[in-house]
Amino acid sequence: MCGIVGYVGYRDCAGVLMDALSKLEYRGYDSAGIAVFDKGEISVAKSKGRLADLAEKMEKTGKPEGNAGIGHTRWATHGEPSDINSHPHSGERVTIVHNGIIENYKVLKDFLVKEGRCFKSDTDTEVVAQLLDYYYDGDPIATIAKVTRELEGSYALGIVFADFPDTVFAIRCESPLIVGIGENESFIASDVPAILKYTRNYYLLEHDEIAVLSRYSTSIYDLHYNKLNKELKTADWDMDAAEKGGYEHFMLKEIFEQPTAIKTTITPRIVDGLPNLEECGITMEKLSSYKQIFVVACGTAMHAGVVGRYVIEKLARVPVNVEIASEFRYRDPIVSEGDLVIIISQSGETADSLAAMRLAKKLGAETLAIVNAKGSSIAREADMLIYTHAGPEIAVASTKAYMVQIAVMYLFAFEMALAKGMISEDECRRLTSLLQQTPDTIEKLLEHKETAQYIASSLINADSLLYIGRGLDYALSMEGSLKLKEISYIHSESYAAGELKHGTISLIHDGMPVIAVATQSALFDKTISNIKEVKARGAKVVIVCRDSYNPDTDVADHKFGLPDEVEDLLMPMAAVVPLQLIAYYTSVLRGNDVDKPRNLAKSVTVE
Ligand code: G6P
Repeated sequence: MCGIVGYVGYRDCAGVLMDALSKLEYRGYDSAGIAVFDKGEISVAKSKGRLADLAEKMEKTGKPEGNAGIGHTRWATHGEPSDINSHPHSGERVTIVHNGIIENYKVLKDFLVKEGRCFKSDTDTEVVAQLLDYYYDGDPIATIAKVTRELEGSYALGIVFADFPDTVFAIRCESPLIVGIGENESFIASDVPAILKYTRNYYLLEHDEIAVLSRYSTSIYDLHYNKLNKELKTADWDMDAAEKGGYEHFMLKEIFEQPTAIKTTITPRIVDGLPNLEECGITMEKLSSYKQIFVVACGTAMHAGVVGRYVIEKLARVPVNVEIASEFRYRDPIVSEGDLVIIISQSGETADSLAAMRLAKKLGAETLAIVNAKGSSIAREADMLIYTHAGPEIAVASTKAYMVQIAVMYLFAFEMALAKGMISEDECRRLTSLLQQTPDTIEKLLEHKETAQYIASSLINADSLLYIGRGLDYALSMEGSLKLKEISYIHSESYAAGELKHGTISLIHDGMPVIAVATQSALFDKTISNIKEVKARGAKVVIVCRDSYNPDTDVADHKFGLPDEVEDLLMPMAAVVPLQLIAYYTSVLRGNDVDKPRNLAKSVTVE
């Protein structure tokens, strides 16, 4: 979704804003713009398209020169992507950038039109700019406070007032915003990677806090003008984490970072060979008490929940419901005291997941967040919190975040099974040590990336394909299919292999690719039978299975082998790697923008 940046200092502001915005490209956008104080006047440049289009435009028309300003990447919600609808938006004396949605913009717009105001764009954001302008009385903080009381919805705003040159104001409600503090310079940004090149120190802006940035001082106030003393945080990511580091794409880099991400995530949570989640607020006593678990999330994070369900139910024998957050929040779920609701989220800002968590709390359940982004809203509001330590994930298609989410689900399931007395301490130790071996397994699998590349070359002309599997393999198929469709733009569906013949098999035609995941020994023969059924109807089958299985020609055309020594239960951590690589190479071979697929956003802060 939209990205916001702002800068006040001594550097070339337009350069800093463009650089910082490039670090937010992963959020997904379709236009960009900046506003800079140029010799005391606010100068705006904006353009539909990528940052490169904006840069090209500025080369022709002249880049605003100055040391303070705001910038934005827009993911269209109200009004098509166009130069006019791009941010910044201005009233007469106020110019703003906005991330979020103003839900009551229509009412406010009608009011402003009646008051004689004219609008240039179709955006909800311009309403905020005009409203600030309408109420502006020479006191920016009082004006911002007054206006935000009238706004319904979510917003992070970067604001400049023509009367206050070289000063940037910011406020947030729901949408994330940080304030970076350097030496004689300060920043605002939607996310930490945008400022890492300049500083690692930042404040997390809370709801309805107003930041005032000027070159030599930065202050944060509440809506009543009280100056706040906030804790300065230090990002533990370095700059390299937000750079491609020699890889062609962030997605490939992130796939290769998975072994390290798993180690960093699980090692601190293993004590004396056993999982220990106490520092996250999860005690054995609590684990033994839950009778029912809900896992609520969106997209890939939800798929991590599906793997979690299989593992928790198998080991701890506790019923687990996995739900899409946007459905859960509106279906009046039967959740109550004594239930545990686990929210999984990479960004920690997904609007539906956040709302689902708030609802679960309201219904009396305990909430556990599994989140990657430090200090994000979901992380802050959950009762218990396990941070995944994947580092920044820049590619829109999630890979390493998924991997560490499932690693955490395993640790959680092992400890819960122990707490419930369903497995012995020795068994728990054994399983934990298997989990600790997965980084090495993945390291070795990554050496076979060419096999995935070869398989991908057989998929690039497909119009549609299917992913099938049973049990944990079905859970994986869901993620494999999502990964492929989101970045290759080839239609794809995942199906429980046993369900195919109840309808979907009618889609199979000569040459249609089917990717079959068959790693689970107990279900293997049954899956092979289902594979043969599609093969007999002309499908081109890629099988992801154990190394030792050599498929006949009536089963598969291509195989990606996985190490025989990996136990069934842990197989998802290995099997997802070829699925990620196949999706990646298919996208590359089709010439797509792998890291920034069309229409998608990394952090979905609207419903
Ligand atoms: C978007 C992203 C997905 C992600 C989903 C949930 O759709 O493109 O990669 O899985 O949101 O995001 P979250 O940050 O909550 O994990």
